[in-house]
Amino acid sequence: MIEKIKRLHEDIKNLSAKTAEEAEALRIKYLSKKGIINALFDEFKTIPSEQKRLVGKDLNLLKNFANEKIQALKNTVSTKETGNIDIDLQLPVSGKIGSRHPLSIVRNEIIEIFNHLGFNVSEGPEIEDDWHVFSALNFPPEHPARDMQDTFFINNNPDILLRTHTSSVQVRVMDNENPPIRTISPGRVYRNEAISARAHCIFHQVEGLYIDHNVSFADLKQTLLYFAKEMFGEETKIRLRPSYFPFTEPSAEMDISCKLCGGKGCNVCKYTGWVEILGCGMVDPNVLDSNNIDSKEYTGFAFGMGIERIAMLKYGINDLRLFFENNMEFLSQFKGNL
Ligand code: DAH
Repeated sequence: MIEKIKRLHEDIKNLSAKTAEEAEALRIKYLSKKGIINALFDEFKTIPSEQKRLVGKDLNLLKNFANEKIQALKNTVSTKETGNIDIDLQLPVSGKIGSRHPLSIVRNEIIEIFNHLGFNVSEGPEIEDDWHVFSALNFPPEHPARDMQDTFFINNNPDILLRTHTSSVQVRVMDNENPPIRTISPGRVYRNEAISARAHCIFHQVEGLYIDHNVSFADLKQTLLYFAKEMFGEETKIRLRPSYFPFTEPSAEMDISCKLCGGKGCNVCKYTGWVEILGCGMVDPNVLDSNNIDSKEYTGFAFGMGIERIAMLKYGINDLRLFFENNMEFLSQFKGNL
């Protein structure tokens, strides 16, 4: 039987088809219920059991090979067939014109606002190691903040993981550049969370980092106030509440006055008049030193925000899952020039 399989492998390797019909005839001959390969599977049932492992493996390989080969023939003939049609690239577009995804629109707006303040854009990988996501950001080995981030590890390897925040890009920028550093890093992040209207296992963040001589908390506050007014309107107010992050000291969370009720109180702001939009703080001197920036000479601030959250507040969207479902009726409401 092994011989038979070998011969068939050779035959299939040399198959060719000029038309879609010919390719389909080959599929029927080799892969249909009554085809040659299925007949071999019937024969396989009758061979002695000590041969089954070896023959079974070859047989499965043959089947996969035939599937791939015949599919490839089908693809080639179909592109050849459609290739004959003349396409006039100058014809006006008919029907619906695509629009940008709301998350792209908001991300581009954030980039534009910070560009005006002299921030450039930097990126890093989504698959990261412990150093860039945790250790270089001053998370001690057993620190509970590591658990709070619900990390996806790859192959259970504690040193290969999907980044839980874009703060990892800070570390890469500090590795590669000397101060003054003024950068924002938009990107996708992952957390092992149950999917609901308010949480998802994939979402997007923008990280900000500014390091130079004499950078102060007042600079941070003024930068974020400028951002909030540009993003949500001139009348927007901000407030900073003390918080904790391992990589900043002091740390704060920033709220903006609720755009939906103008601060009077509604269910979006839980009747407080304020909604949280980001975390921020002065870069912890330990973080600067771990990344070879002299904390006696330089200071810096950092902040991180969720793009989904900003988009939900900006557009009054109350279910985060809508961003990922690609429903045309939802998406076509957003028109962005950016
Ligand atoms: N990385 C934090 C998070 O994912 C957000 C954050 C907070 C980023 C404070 C910062 C920061 O840069 O200073 O929850």
